[in-house]
Amino acid sequence: MEATAVTEKAPPGGPAPAILEAAGVSKIFGGLVAVDGVGFTIPERSIVSIIGPNGAGKTTFFNMLTGLYRPTFGTIAFHGRDITRRRPDQIVSMGMARTFQNIRLFATMTAVENVLVGLHSRTSAGIFRSILRPPSQRREERESHEKARETLRYVGLREEHFDEISINLSYGDQRRLEVARALASDPKLLLLDEPTAGMNPAESARLTDFMRKLRDERGITILLIEHDMKVVMGVSERITVLDHGEKIAEGSPEKVRNDPRVIEAYLGKQS
Ligand SMILES: Nc1ncnc2c1ncn2[C@@H]1O[C@H](COP(=O)(O)OP(=O)(O)OP(=O)(O)O)[C@@H](O)[C@H]1O
Ligand SMILES: [Mg+2]
Repeated sequence: MEATAVTEKAPPGGPAPAILEAAGVSKIFGGLVAVDGVGFTIPERSIVSIIGPNGAGKTTFFNMLTGLYRPTFGTIAFHGRDITRRRPDQIVSMGMARTFQNIRLFATMTAVENVLVGLHSRTSAGIFRSILRPPSQRREERESHEKARETLRYVGLREEHFDEISINLSYGDQRRLEVARALASDPKLLLLDEPTAGMNPAESARLTDFMRKLRDERGITILLIEHDMKVVMGVSERITVLDHGEKIAEGSPEKVRNDPRVIEAYLGKQS
């Protein structure tokens, strides 16, 4: 596929242009085909989800989009630019950020410090500057701190937890902090890998509202991997279903919910 095609403006009233386009993407680990020729497009400013049983290849697919794994086959374009062989840090600075299925915070750093790491990922000199601290950088550093605190406020972490060591935060707050760190890099596309895992229904509902707010207020496009069907069906404009690495269905929540192949993938074949 011609990479420039995705940047073309859609006609008025037509479909939104794609922010991300994956074509024929596969990942093979030894003899295991974890992701099998998946084509996938995300319209700008949409909220879309990937679902599928355990081991379906969802996280592996995320890892390829974000540059952690290199696809065995296929291409990935972001904002119309080929990113198939880009490094994760390059992809972050192009405007894609993610959270992880298993929380990956810097456990011994405070909440604010974790967000500062996300901020610095945008400016490569940042980390060195913050270690050397020449006086001319103090003001910039204060501004970074203020931006980190503002981001933490935005994701709903309580002020009293801002300077807490992250490992001491509740599970829900650690999830929130991960989102804050991802947001600090000012992404246009945010990938969330099971963000409600371990949350109670009230927390999950709050996070669902927050995803809509991110899209509506900041224009951020969201790609979600999620097992909680209430969250998925409630928030997604479109759902893609993977099973054994293959895309077996795609469409509106209504369409996917009633698709016999999807029901079979989740319930197992009735013989
Ligand atoms: N680094 C790796 N090396 C070898 N095999 C891997 C690797 N990562 C994933 N796999 C395998 O690829 C398949 C897909 O795994 P993946 O983690 O992408 O599934 P998933 O859909 O995210 O599942 P879950 O819902 O349990 O998170 C699994 O069989 C897994 O064991
Ligand atoms: Mg996974």
